Amino acid sequence: MPPFPIRPRTDADRPAVAGLLLATHETDGYPIVLPPDLEAWGAADDVVEAWVAVDDADDGEVVVGHAVLTEADGGAATPQWEAATGLDRSELGVVRRLVVHRSAQGTGTGAALLATAVDAAHRLGRRPVLDMSDNLTSAGALYRRAGFVEVGAYDLQLPGHLLHVLTWVGPPPDR
Ligand SMILES: CC(C)(COP(=O)(O)OP(=O)(O)OC[C@H]1O[C@@H](n2cnc3c(N)ncnc32)[C@H](O)[C@@H]1OP(=O)(O)O)[C@@H](O)C(=O)NCCC(=O)NCCS
Repeated sequence: MPPFPIRPRTDADRPAVAGLLLATHETDGYPIVLPPDLEAWGAADDVVEAWVAVDDADDGEVVVGHAVLTEADGGAATPQWEAATGLDRSELGVVRRLVVHRSAQGTGTGAALLATAVDAAHRLGRRPVLDMSDNLTSAGALYRRAGFVEVGAYDLQLPGHLLHVLTWVGPPPDR
């Protein structure tokens, strides 16, 4: 089965993205703790570009995947990305909220969404970076295949869960 088609996300996709995250919370433990406003969390802050993967079913389009590229904020990962790359945060693009519905996993859709975000970062002259909880082994394998390398880690306390979060940097843009 080929990857599902990818298009830019619109505001109208926000409820569907929240529904997708609710499903992957159940099946994959991502997000591990449901945030109070899942729609806002899924949409993310400081968005540079965002995409959805869609299944054009007979009875209408279904969002089966999602990824977003954001600015680097002042969180714990940012100094690690800056130290690893020697770049200012304004020269980074953070891949966040990469998720594929369980029914669409293993089709290359996750790799295609990641490649779309990496290409967008490169087009903007930015270095793609990301962070991920260390329990998400499938995502880690995907990142490694795409040329990302681990550069650090930090602990994040969420209600009921202490996460060990790994920081990664992706391939630099061609200059
Ligand atoms: C991580 C995630 C996005 C990957 O999505 P995906 O669509 O399954 O990714 P891909 O299909 O591109 O690759 C996944 C696997 O399918 C395989 N694959 C890729 N194309 C394939 C195809 N056409 N047919 C069969 N298998 C294929 C890949 O080799 C890969 O194998 P492996 O991970 O078992 O080694 C998905 O598992 C997910 O949503 N997980 C939960 C959320 C999450 O962890 N997000 C990361 C947040 S940091």
